Amino acid sequence: MNKTRDRLLEKAKNAKRNSYSPYSKFKVGAAVQSETGKIFSGCNVENSSYGLSMCAERVALFKAVSDGHKKIKSIAITSSGKNPTFPCGACRQVLVEFNPDMIVYIDKDSSSYMISELLTKSFSKKQLK
Ligand code: THU
Repeated sequence: MNKTRDRLLEKAKNAKRNSYSPYSKFKVGAAVQSETGKIFSGCNVENSSYGLSMCAERVALFKAVSDGHKKIKSIAITSSGKNPTFPCGACRQVLVEFNPDMIVYIDKDSSSYMISELLTKSFSKKQLK
């Protein structure tokens, strides 16, 4: 039993209910926890111009950052699919920016992962020097 995982997944599942996904019909919910303990959740938001759609993970993360919470300890992800939903490549890159040691919990998958393990040798500010 992992209390953080359970709490974050519950928030992610609640956010999934707000998913705006009339095109894919694939609902996703995510919840992030900042180092202060605050939780922010998000859902995927699609658009008739498909490429403008936004993933649930980035919605949740950007809500946290725009509220002043830049150090994110963990994230939980859930979807309406029958298989575990792992973050897409773009979301992995965005997540790793805010803590390479971020813990990733995936619904229907009992393991937990570190974001840097899901995105090895990522591009980072070190390369900008
Ligand atoms: N989606 C997410 O929100 N997160 C993921 O990790 C994978 C994909 C969304 C994008 C799109 O709205 C729908 O799921 C189908 O790709």
